Amino acid sequence: MVLTVNPLKLINKDLKKLEFRLREFLQIPVPVLSETGVYLLEAGGKRVRPIFALLAGKLFNYDESTLFTVAMAIEIIHMASLAHDDIVDDSTLRRGRPTLAARWGKAAAVVTGDYLLAQAMQLIYGVKNKEVTSLLAHTSTEMCRGEICQIQASHDTRQSVHDYFYKIRRKTALLLSLSCEAGAVVSGASREEARVLRQYGQCLGVAFQIMDDVLDIEATKEEIGKPPASDVRQGIITLPMLIAMNEGGAGSVRLRELLTRKEKTTAEVAEATALIRRSGGPARCRETARRFITAACRKLPLLPDKPERAALARMAEIVLNRRS
Ligand code: IPE
Ligand code: IPE
Ligand code: MG
Ligand code: MG
Repeated sequence: MVLTVNPLKLINKDLKKLEFRLREFLQIPVPVLSETGVYLLEAGGKRVRPIFALLAGKLFNYDESTLFTVAMAIEIIHMASLAHDDIVDDSTLRRGRPTLAARWGKAAAVVTGDYLLAQAMQLIYGVKNKEVTSLLAHTSTEMCRGEICQIQASHDTRQSVHDYFYKIRRKTALLLSLSCEAGAVVSGASREEARVLRQYGQCLGVAFQIMDDVLDIEATKEEIGKPPASDVRQGIITLPMLIAMNEGGAGSVRLRELLTRKEKTTAEVAEATALIRRSGGPARCRETARRFITAACRKLPLLPDKPERAALARMAEIVLNRRS
């Protein structure tokens, strides 16, 4: 398939508008909270979820103000999850900048996450669409379920690939899926079209997290804007690790032993990372992500034949080949 549409070019103007509106919305006269929200926003981020919401909505009969509100609410929920995830992970770098906790302290970071979530709920209330409101509440609940499972399963090297998928479907894939579905639902898509977009988003979301887990092992701090090998350090058992541990041989045994340790020295983190890199884990993860991407794109022909549809196909390739 030849991919000619640049999804960003297609909605470049919309994304600029979205930035402006997000900034305006988060700049409230409340000390600290206005600073932390805008700080996280200005640090950048790929805006993958609003891109999906906008592309999905523009396939149909969209109302600009409603579609933008949905896209904003979803990006703000994502930002809230990042604020909290960085506290949980004890991370010092996000989007290439010190995390909220590193800059303002944990307490302010916790409240910023709560505040962003509340702001997202307020935005979505304004859309007055029961289905989307319910989808958003359900997604937020399931994201917590995914995160708490991950916390409980840290350092547990006996967990299965099935456990891994349970977690990533919830903590990551659902919000990407919601982005596509909600954009379509508020823009007059049929039930079947909304379902196609939900499934596309779910498959893409799974591929997105698999690639995030590969990048944690392979990419640099500059590329991902967060500390590499974080998962190894924290004992979060990801797919490349599971594959590497199940390969058999001395390397697998040593890796399992290292990943089970709650406290690891810098040298041990480097050793475990090197073992995963040298294993077949990263390459097999790419194959798995590619299968999800193919599944995601399979049903796109059921959607209206518009440039946005080609852009969604292009987004799938971008997710697979991303380095940031
Ligand atoms: C990071 O998401 C959290 C994951 C689900 C892996 P992104 O990679 O979309 O983060 P930003 O928004 O671009 O910073
Ligand atoms: C986080 O997944 C998903 C969220 C709910 C934020 P990760 O823990 O892999 O995300 P990063 O690597 O910290 O961005
Ligand atoms: Mg994290
Ligand atoms: Mg990660």
